[in-house]
Amino acid sequence: MSNTKTLHIGMSLAPTWLSGEAWRRPDSNIEGLLSSDYYLDIAKRAEAVKLDFVFRPDTLFLHPKMLESGPGFGSLDPTILLAAIARETSHIGLLSTVSTTFYPPYVVARQIQSLNWLSNGRAGWNIVTALDGHENFGLPEMPTPEERYARAAEFTDVVRHLWQSFPEAAIRCDRAAGIGTDPSLIRAIDHEGGCFSVKGPLNLPSFDKAPVPLVQAGASPIGRDFAASIADAIFAATPDKEAAIELRKDLRTRGEAHGRAADAVKVLPGLSLYLGNTRGQARDLFAATHAGAERARKLATILEMTGLDLRDWPDDRSVTAADLSAPLEYVRSRTHSELLRRLIVREEPKVADLLMRPEVMGSSHWQVIGTVDDAVAEISDWAASRAMDGFIAVPGGSVECMHRTLDEVIPRLSEAGLFRKDYCGTTFADHLAQ
Ligand SMILES: Cc1cc2nc3c(=O)[nH]c(=O)nc-3n(C[C@H](O)[C@H](O)[C@H](O)COP(=O)(O)O)c2cc1C
Repeated sequence: MSNTKTLHIGMSLAPTWLSGEAWRRPDSNIEGLLSSDYYLDIAKRAEAVKLDFVFRPDTLFLHPKMLESGPGFGSLDPTILLAAIARETSHIGLLSTVSTTFYPPYVVARQIQSLNWLSNGRAGWNIVTALDGHENFGLPEMPTPEERYARAAEFTDVVRHLWQSFPEAAIRCDRAAGIGTDPSLIRAIDHEGGCFSVKGPLNLPSFDKAPVPLVQAGASPIGRDFAASIADAIFAATPDKEAAIELRKDLRTRGEAHGRAADAVKVLPGLSLYLGNTRGQARDLFAATHAGAERARKLATILEMTGLDLRDWPDDRSVTAADLSAPLEYVRSRTHSELLRRLIVREEPKVADLLMRPEVMGSSHWQVIGTVDDAVAEISDWAASRAMDGFIAVPGGSVECMHRTLDEVIPRLSEAGLFRKDYCGTTFADHLAQ
């Protein structure tokens, strides 16, 4: 981050503030979760404090375990949800998550470009290779990470060519001459590759005033390389500052190797916030949220990610590097597995402490449990250390905590000169360039 640049901040529309026990609070409004009004309220709050974007993660399967408790009763299609938000907002970017493992690229090119038109240039695409869901798409098993990333690279290439296949400049609307479009500017892409055969052109012009920002999540070496080759930002899981600094440095080097500017890929870690008037209140909020977290489930997560079976271990026994076997051949996410292994090697935590860490309990996100002052201080520190270029807020614990993130933390960052006070443009790409 250069000295003149301010942070880029997004707000997750995944209701992380309803996770754990939080949805059971009387004011959780859990019943509203499938209505557009629910998300519109958050998007309007986020736009009022001039955030770069709202963001909706996505999966393409239903986890029966999630249904028993918590708010995991399915999810709206992110691109359709964001189209509903587009109509009622004017500036904020709309970052949709679409998997390259399961969809065909022609459909995705059209959906995202449709969102870009409907929002006047505010669409973004979070490119994921997905973690689960093969059973819903006729696949016998999840493709390996190598296969998924190879497909993702070709998929993204096809989508970008489709976006160029029908430029906006081809639209003439010349009533006098009776010419609607200039077909000479519209071209097939004739793509024949390892995974896809796509003739094109796309049946929708591109919105040339605003290129669609590309975001990638997944930080294994191939994930990083993929991000470095095409992404404008990476949604990162970085539980500590050193992990973020290492990722940011590495992406700069990889970006340059791909002939891009060192700062081409912005590092945006997820930031989980549990806020209280006092640190004690914040700790209570965190504890109450996770009171129902089952030990067995956390131990199963550790086993699945590292092969370490801690079921018979006492709480006060330290877990060390010597306890780890070689990395497992197959893990759902190498990013998350590697972060957990890293924590064990670096800190040798006791079992009880390990079970409370974001690497085990959540998505390995950067976490602040404290006051608004603490959050502002921590964000300022990471910014000063050039550990990130911004963040995606994933507040936890309660609706109130989500509101405080938007209504209190963000204005404080603006006052401190770390974040914009107003928009300088109207498109998502404008915000990322600011
Ligand atoms: C921070 C983060 C967020 C992710 N969000 C999603 C998501 O919303 N939907 C999805 O299908 N996969 C998601 N993924 C999975 C990645 O797209 C990728 O499939 C996975 O991390 C495996 O790649 P890796 O080996 O590089 O880690 C996410 C991964 C990370 C690290």
